[in-house]
Amino acid sequence: MMTLSDCTRPVELCLSPGILLVAVPKAVTMALASRALRVARQFRSAWSCTSLIPHNFGSKQADVSSYILAACLAAAVGSDVIASDGDGFVCGNKRADLPTFSASDIAKHDRADTGIWVAYKEGVYDVTSFLQQHPGGAEKLMLAAGKQIDPFWALYAQHKAENVQRLLETLRIGNVDAQSFAKQTASNASSDPADPYRAEPSRHPGLVVNSQQPFNAETPQEMIVDSFITPNSIFYKRNHMPVPTITPDEYRLHIEVPTSIGRRTLSLSLADLGKLPQAKVVATLQCAGNRRSDIADVKPVRGLNWRLGAIGNAEWRGVYLRDVLKAAGVQDAQGAKHVHFEGLDADPTGTVYGSSIPIETALSASGDVLLATHMNGEPLLPDHGYPVRALVPGTVAARSVKWLGKVVVDEFESNSHWQQRDYRGFSPNVDWHNVDFSTSPSIQELPVTSAITSPRAGTVFDPSEGSISLQGYAWSGGGRAVVRVDVSIDGGKTWHTADLNDKAAAHADSQPYGRVWSWMPWEIEIDLPEDTPSELQLVCKATDRSYNTQPQEASSVWNLRGVLSTAWHRITIQAK
Ligand code: HEM
Repeated sequence: MMTLSDCTRPVELCLSPGILLVAVPKAVTMALASRALRVARQFRSAWSCTSLIPHNFGSKQADVSSYILAACLAAAVGSDVIASDGDGFVCGNKRADLPTFSASDIAKHDRADTGIWVAYKEGVYDVTSFLQQHPGGAEKLMLAAGKQIDPFWALYAQHKAENVQRLLETLRIGNVDAQSFAKQTASNASSDPADPYRAEPSRHPGLVVNSQQPFNAETPQEMIVDSFITPNSIFYKRNHMPVPTITPDEYRLHIEVPTSIGRRTLSLSLADLGKLPQAKVVATLQCAGNRRSDIADVKPVRGLNWRLGAIGNAEWRGVYLRDVLKAAGVQDAQGAKHVHFEGLDADPTGTVYGSSIPIETALSASGDVLLATHMNGEPLLPDHGYPVRALVPGTVAARSVKWLGKVVVDEFESNSHWQQRDYRGFSPNVDWHNVDFSTSPSIQELPVTSAITSPRAGTVFDPSEGSISLQGYAWSGGGRAVVRVDVSIDGGKTWHTADLNDKAAAHADSQPYGRVWSWMPWEIEIDLPEDTPSELQLVCKATDRSYNTQPQEASSVWNLRGVLSTAWHRITIQAK
């Protein structure tokens, strides 16, 4: 066992070239320890881990962050026990000495006034006392309040460490009634053969659900910019109809191209697609309605109330659409102006989801349009279009049709509802009484946008901390890189330039001009003025490679469907 009792000073961070010395006493407050952890991480990204040498903790050498973590844990549980002694400890096993709780007992404990419980494997834990001490933040822990934490910890590998699991076990209060969880899952699934939603897949419990049927859910705000690549399970889901059940062996993708001697067709199995040259594209997808809630604050609109999380970034793999269209003879096509995508998802009348893109986008060597089969190295999830979806980088996600059944080259745009009557922008003076959908073009490339993901609107901040940290994302359509993000803490009177995420910036720099399809997470720490007001209005706005920037007011871009909500993102936070 190792203890922190050698430490005598509160928190000491001494830097010399290549070496970070850290001393953390066991009595250190959690806030200080968390700050130390943040500082250590900052330096760890700049230096290699091996150059971080722990100081004042005896002879055992280890990554310094594990010592800081140990300090956090020790402070959190008021214990000296901070390191593994190799006794084969396992977290979450059934314990005969403890009571059993059902899934609904646990679900009731999801607020401060009821106490905050979580389930892990077979264990139930009361994590209320740990909430404010969680190094990942109270907000993240609250995402799992009243739920199983396994799916969250699957996304954050640091929790696999034994010392984290030891900490959790100190908060143990009972055992999970596994049958009640199984029943809960079974009762969520319909057994009615007439129910079109009976085959819906299971989903990550952290998703913020905007509608269950069809399933529409966004990435929780606290997790949006945790990584450059969004994990598949928490990538936003935007379905228009039930998820179709597709048997991979029977799946065929039909391609149709009109030529002077009639329609040429191709029918491709998954194996056929797998034999074609494979391409990878890192691209952000964003729903046209992302940030609709800001527009709806101006005046109500029709549509799901998407907040900030209908956006995500992934590495997509598949075959270039242009290669498949060439194999189908598109070079001989007559009057080819648009490429239609038809999904295999259908409503009870048999209407399938459909959409189209200009032929120029489809065939351009710099357009990178894919028939995608993989997302982040894995076959597409059912919610993301398994087995094949269109992936149109830089274009509104409504055109990246999922569960793709048919690709048709045509003279006209798709006549589907989603091309003709939806996903079009209008002036604020147009409302449902005077709208003529034929007067606006369908949305294709998306305009530049950005949002503040942290802090949340309404957060209470402590002016005595002297500074405030903000995080968020920015993105622009059409392959236009984001070149700058401006942030203000006084409603836009004065501005600061945010730091662009290193990995995202390096990726953007490595892409050819006009082919930067991925987003740009950003962060900034801003000093608070001496006379900090009781309320701060935080604002962000991004500028892209064409020097396009965001409109100032949501009212100026209000439109009846609440799409293209790209005004400066503004939130208000209050001083403690
Ligand atoms: C409920 C029980 C939980 C416990 C006991 C716990 C414990 C911890 C501990 C000890 C660390 C520091 C680990 C390290 O950096 O080496 C940590 C970090 C972290 N946790 Fe948790 N955690 C819990 C739940 C969650 C949940 C539900 C989420 C996500 C939704 C989460 C997200 C994170 C993140 C993102 C970090 C990294 C913070 C950073 O790098 O600064 N944790 N957690």
